[in-house]
Amino acid sequence: MSDQQTLLRLLSERRSVRGFLQQPVANALLQQIFSDAQLSPSNCNTQPWHTYVASGASCQRLRQGLVEQASSGVTPKAEFGYYSQFEGDARQRQVECAEVLYGSMGIERGDKVGRMGALLRNYQFFDAPHVAFICMDTRFDVVNAIDIGTYLQTLMLLLQANGISSCAQGALAYFPELVKQELDIPAEQGIIVGLSFGYEDPNHPTCAARTSRAAVQQSVSFKS
Ligand SMILES: Cc1cc2nc3c(=O)[nH]c(=O)nc-3n(C[C@H](O)[C@H](O)[C@H](O)COP(=O)(O)O)c2cc1C
Repeated sequence: MSDQQTLLRLLSERRSVRGFLQQPVANALLQQIFSDAQLSPSNCNTQPWHTYVASGASCQRLRQGLVEQASSGVTPKAEFGYYSQFEGDARQRQVECAEVLYGSMGIERGDKVGRMGALLRNYQFFDAPHVAFICMDTRFDVVNAIDIGTYLQTLMLLLQANGISSCAQGALAYFPELVKQELDIPAEQGIIVGLSFGYEDPNHPTCAARTSRAAVQQSVSFKS
């Protein structure tokens, strides 16, 4: 298989998995993957990511604490801004994405309890045995956030290449205090995104969910 075919296979096989087996990833493999992810490029090579990986008892404490916070009406307080008033194409894609996910879980439109349950699955890390919280300096801005996104994709593809599934989660940035306390994250670092990961549970209903992509003409224009 050529490099191009391998890369395309990894890109198309990677998807957000929201149902994991309990089986942990071997520690040596984890170390290798996160070490390889350091190859990710960044603006002026600043490498602004600080990544905190929780497994075992720590992961379990976070799962419990975050579910408690998210279900008890505590107001979410993310450290970085998020524009969510999508319109036009973005809004349509957001709705389609929700329909695919909720549809796979048998949650009907208007089923508020079902939707809350689906939301809380984020804080259960979809049963994953590991969760990573990716942070950057709270003074940094969108340009630095590009580096974090690039790093995130590098990480997800490395995981995929090792048969490990993942789900990036903006939702994991909403209750930072508890996470920062558990993982000893310094105050000047803010949580920008989380990533649940582990081996996929092939029997979980959400595993059937597939998102689509716009045709290239809708996103890219070429001029010569
Ligand atoms: C930065 C980022 C944040 C995301 N946040 C969440 C989240 O909070 N919860 C969730 O279930 N999925 C989340 N996702 C997954 C997206 O919904 C998913 O990537 C998108 O629908 C495309 O589907 P795919 O990853 O299966 O290809 C996030 C993805 C990214 C890249």
